[in-house]
Amino acid sequence: MRRPKITVIGAGNVGASCAFWLAVKEVGDIVLIDIPEMADKTKGKALDLLQCGPVARFDCRITGGSDYVAAAGSDVVIVTAGIPRKPGMSRDDLIQTNVKIVGSVSEQIARVAPEAVLIVVSNPLDAMVYTAWKKSGFPTNRVVGQAGCLDIARYRTFIAMELDCSVEDITALLLGGHGDDMVPLPRYTSVAGIPVTQLIPEKRLTEIIDRAKVGGGEIVKLMGTSAYYAPAAGSVDMAEAIVRDKRRIFPCAAYCDQEFGVGGYFVGVPCMLGSGGVEKVIEIDLDEGERKLFDNSVAHVKELVGVAEKFMG
Ligand code: NAI
Ligand code: 2OP
Repeated sequence: MRRPKITVIGAGNVGASCAFWLAVKEVGDIVLIDIPEMADKTKGKALDLLQCGPVARFDCRITGGSDYVAAAGSDVVIVTAGIPRKPGMSRDDLIQTNVKIVGSVSEQIARVAPEAVLIVVSNPLDAMVYTAWKKSGFPTNRVVGQAGCLDIARYRTFIAMELDCSVEDITALLLGGHGDDMVPLPRYTSVAGIPVTQLIPEKRLTEIIDRAKVGGGEIVKLMGTSAYYAPAAGSVDMAEAIVRDKRRIFPCAAYCDQEFGVGGYFVGVPCMLGSGGVEKVIEIDLDEGERKLFDNSVAHVKELVGVAEKFMG
C-alpha cells in the first residue's frame, strides 16, 4: 500500500517541528523544502530526523532540499514558509513579506502536487490562507489554515492549569481570525462534559480567555520569536485527520461564503477534516455577544485580506 506523502515548506522552527511530529506519529513519508540557500541545512535536518527512526521506532522516508520535484504527488502540503513575528511586531506587520513568499510557494506546489490539500500556517494566517487559495487555484475545500488547533490548545492548557485536571478532558471551540480578537467560546467549552462555566467563575474564566487570546504574544516576549512546538502539533493533527480520513472536527481557517454570513473569506470556524480536506463547515448558534465578537474579528480578517490583495500582484 502506498504511504501518504506530506511535504512541509519552510524548514525553520515550525516546519522542522512539524516534520518531527509527522515522523513520530508515522503520518507518512516526509519531504522538507526550503529556499536554495538553505538546501544543505534542510537536507541535514531531514537526515538527522531520519536517524531518530531506529531509536524512536518510526518507519518513514524523510528527505530535504529545495527542489519542488520532491513534493510531486504529495497528499498534504504544510506551508510554514515566511518570516516569524519578532518582539514588538504584530502578525499584521508580516503581511507584505509573507504574501510574496506564500504566493510563490503556492504556485510551485500547484504545479507539482495539484491534488494536495494545503494547510497554511504562515502569518498573518487568515490573509495567507486567502493568498494560498488565490495563487494555487485550488478548490476551497483543499485550502485550510492552522490557527484554531493552536489557539484552543492554549485555552485548554490554561483551563487544565486552573482546574488542576487533565487537558485531555477539556474540549473547546473558538471562532474568528488568528489575531488577538479571536473568539474563544465558553458556552462551547466543557470538562468531561461539564460546562466550564459551572467549574470556573466568570471573572476568572475571562482572565483565562484573555490570556489565551494573546498567547502567541506571550511566547514571543519570552523566546524572542514565535511559538513552534504547539503550532506544529496542531498542524500535524490536521494533516493526520486528512491523510487518515478521520473526519475530526477542529476549529480551522476555512472558506466561508454563506456560512456564518462571512461572504467569501477564510476564517476560523468548526470544520470536519477528512480525505477531501475540509469536508464541511459546521454552523453553530451564536448569541448576540458571541456574534458581535465574531463579526468584529471577521471585519479584521477582511481588512488584512484587503492589504494582502494589494501585494499579491
Ligand atoms: P522560521 O524563520 O524559523 O522558519 C521559516 C522558514 O521559511 C525559514 O527556514 C525560511 O528560510 C523559510 N522560507 C522563507 N522563504 C521561503 C520560500 N520562499 N520558500 C520556502 N521556504 C522559505 O519561522 P517559524 O518560526 O518556523 O515561522 C514560520 C511562519 O509560521 C511565520 O510566518 C510565523 O509567523 C508562522 N506561525 C504561524 C502560527 C499559526 O498558528 N498559524 C504559529 C507559529 C508561527
Ligand atoms: C502564535 O500564535 C505567532 O501565530 C503565532 O504563536
